[in-house]
Amino acid sequence: MMRRLTLAALAVFAACLAAGAGSFAAGLKIELPPPQAALAPGIGSDLARNRCLNCHSTDYIATQPPGKPLAFWKAEVEKMRKVYGAQVADDEIAPLAEYLARAYGSGQ
Ligand code: HEC
Repeated sequence: MMRRLTLAALAVFAACLAAGAGSFAAGLKIELPPPQAALAPGIGSDLARNRCLNCHSTDYIATQPPGKPLAFWKAEVEKMRKVYGAQVADDEIAPLAEYLARAYGSGQ
């Protein structure tokens, strides 16, 4: 009698576990946006790849609000240089900013 009860309780317990695990897994279904592995193609994209992707992924650039002007991207390049120590030569700031504004901003 005792043994039968124990087995029944175990079966119920196992069924609950299985159901619980199933709904837990279903609750974990998360869809992430596809990662932006490469920079947008265009004149200056090679320079940007060499100067901008040493420290962080393309996502930092690609997830900026769209339509930002050239001045925003120039300031961004200068900030990377001054604040974070990005290795960008003086005469590379303009071509980088122009590429970024074309590829990710308002273009001018
Ligand atoms: C020496 C390392 C380094 C390099 C090289 C670098 N960055 Fe960054 N970048 C950072 C750091 C650190 C942050 C801030 C990360 C954070 O706040 O989580 C950042 C953040 C950013 C952001 C997010 C907005 C912001 O201002 O924080 C953008 C856009 C960005 N970088 C663009 C660029 C571009 C364009 C280049 C190439 C010209 C570049 N980065 C090169 C280190 C670097």
